[in-house]
Amino acid sequence: MERVVSGIRSTGNLHLGNYFGAIRNFIKMQENHNCYFFIADYHSLTTHPNPKDLHSNVKQVLVEYLAAGLDPEKATLFIQSDVPEVAELNLLLSMNAYVGELERTASFKEKVRKNPNNVNAGLLTYPVLMAADILIHRATKVPVGKDQEQHLEMCRKYARRFNGMYKTEYFKAPEPWNFGDDLIKIPGLDGSGKMGKSEGNGVYLSDTPKKIRKKVMKAVTDAGPTEPNSPVTEPIQNLFTIMQVVSEPDTLTHFKETYADCSIRYGDLKKQLADDIIKYIEPIYNRIQEISADEAYLQKVAKLGAEKARESAQKTIREVREIIGFKKF
Ligand code: TRP
Repeated sequence: MERVVSGIRSTGNLHLGNYFGAIRNFIKMQENHNCYFFIADYHSLTTHPNPKDLHSNVKQVLVEYLAAGLDPEKATLFIQSDVPEVAELNLLLSMNAYVGELERTASFKEKVRKNPNNVNAGLLTYPVLMAADILIHRATKVPVGKDQEQHLEMCRKYARRFNGMYKTEYFKAPEPWNFGDDLIKIPGLDGSGKMGKSEGNGVYLSDTPKKIRKKVMKAVTDAGPTEPNSPVTEPIQNLFTIMQVVSEPDTLTHFKETYADCSIRYGDLKKQLADDIIKYIEPIYNRIQEISADEAYLQKVAKLGAEKARESAQKTIREVREIIGFKKF
């Protein structure tokens, strides 16, 4: 059994791309591994959210992950800022994180380029806090997308550096968990590329049926096949790809056949796709509304998560303090 840690960004609603990407894999992992999933609200402070937004962002993300199927009884699901031990480990690790290497981090350089007026120290030490998130639970595996690989590599480096400095084997360098073929890439509705928040081409789990229909009906298509068995163009293939995950197999076969014999009508294709997305999302959409209104349940979930996470975090902090040489008088 692996100890898995993953942080979840605290802003942004979940779209189908997130769902068929990481989330479904989290839901699988929680069945047979010791998972720590948390909402990274400390990290979000690098962009200075106002207090009201901070809380509602965290709530929305928590609600949507629960609605999608994360189980607080199976995984340890918590809010980062409920576990202040992580801030202490961040401080301790920062003593052997070198400014030069932090400045060379790709994500830092990109942030500096994009927001030259907000180059705060939290941004610089973002990878240290992330390493603290991971090491505080002595993770053996961390699911990471491409954009987080360098951060995980830094975490591994800090683990090894700590061990070297204190002549210990205390931290094991965590391995990346690659979903490989389990990661279904969902394209956007705009003709090319993947579904993403910044691309503005997403269908969200919290979208109303009306909104979904509107988005799908506006999806980019092409002029239509003019010769039998012509290759499927990218915008149409994208719609087929989404259909593949939300529709009955027969439905997809039908539209592939009508594409091949040139009788396809894109209006029908989109209408069917919209219906099937709506049907697929409906139970999750309903749970989002339910859970969102149930403050008592959310409180219970956050409390349980914080308790479980703090138990594990406090043990690590106790041991790390001892290794470093702090002693009680
Ligand atoms: N940096 C991650 C992201 O932007 C979120 C994150 C914070 C994280 N701490 C983590 C991911 C620890 C994995 C492990 O997506």
